[in-house]
Amino acid sequence: MEARPVPSLQAHGITSGYGGVPVIRDVSIAVGPGEVVAIIGPNGAGKSTLLKSLVGILKLDTGTILLGDDDVSGRPPEELARRGVGYVPQVNDIFEPLTVLENLEMGGYLLSSAQVRARVGEVGDVFPQLPPMLRRRADKLSGGERKMLAIARVLMLDPKVLILDEPTANLSPKLADSLLREHVRRLAGLGKAVLLVEQRARAALQVADWTSVLVSGSVRLEGKPAELLQRQDFEELFLGAGTDLAASEETNMEET
Ligand SMILES: Nc1ncnc2c1ncn2[C@@H]1O[C@H](COP(=O)(O)OP(=O)(O)OP(=O)(O)O)[C@@H](O)[C@H]1O
Ligand SMILES: [Mg+2]
Repeated sequence: MEARPVPSLQAHGITSGYGGVPVIRDVSIAVGPGEVVAIIGPNGAGKSTLLKSLVGILKLDTGTILLGDDDVSGRPPEELARRGVGYVPQVNDIFEPLTVLENLEMGGYLLSSAQVRARVGEVGDVFPQLPPMLRRRADKLSGGERKMLAIARVLMLDPKVLILDEPTANLSPKLADSLLREHVRRLAGLGKAVLLVEQRARAALQVADWTSVLVSGSVRLEGKPAELLQRQDFEELFLGAGTDLAASEETNMEET
């Protein structure tokens, strides 16, 4: 059986929340180069809270976050970004009044203008849809184009770790599948560690090397997709939480 890679980013026993009230409790998770790790779980389970804790937006009540061998617990988001952690939030992921190019330039805020030009070319290779629309205002993009821009903006700093909060939300099933299977898989193939939240359990299991199921703020089950699918408690966990596997496929049907 193939071993998991040495983690690029890992969290050990983290607890965090809002205003002193914990939302996630004692969560551990890891992602290594070349790996796609998916976090699935019902609405309100704490998936976004977990990601915000990993990237330093939320303060930890307890626990440790390691970037490589370095303890980065409590470090601010700018430092994590500078050290190679790219984060695409669930909402407000692009600057709507700006053009596609300006969004990419903002993503490259730590780079010289020559480096920005070079990176715009490179992220254009990753998302060939973007170069022809560099002058278009971001609020004119389709849902799929918008998500590509949001990811491309974060790729400007060439992160080692890419953290994506529901990249396929509001995409048609077809676009969602192509984003996951083509782009997300390819980014992992380039050696990036990819951690993503995905509401559609089946889609997550198809793309991920490892999946953690978060329910009510705790990891209730984790493993390789093939192993999870064989476990009886997997589907029961979803049914118990009020979102069965099939229903969770239907939450993102809006065509864009
Ligand atoms: N800024 C906030 N202040 C207070 N409570 C919050 C805040 N953001 C989220 N919460 C609460 O934390 C809990 C977990 O929310 P979170 O956004 O992490 O869930 P999620 O798993 O990402 O859900 P979804 O699938 O709907 O995106 C919810 O009960 C939510 O109401
Ligand atoms: Mg969320």
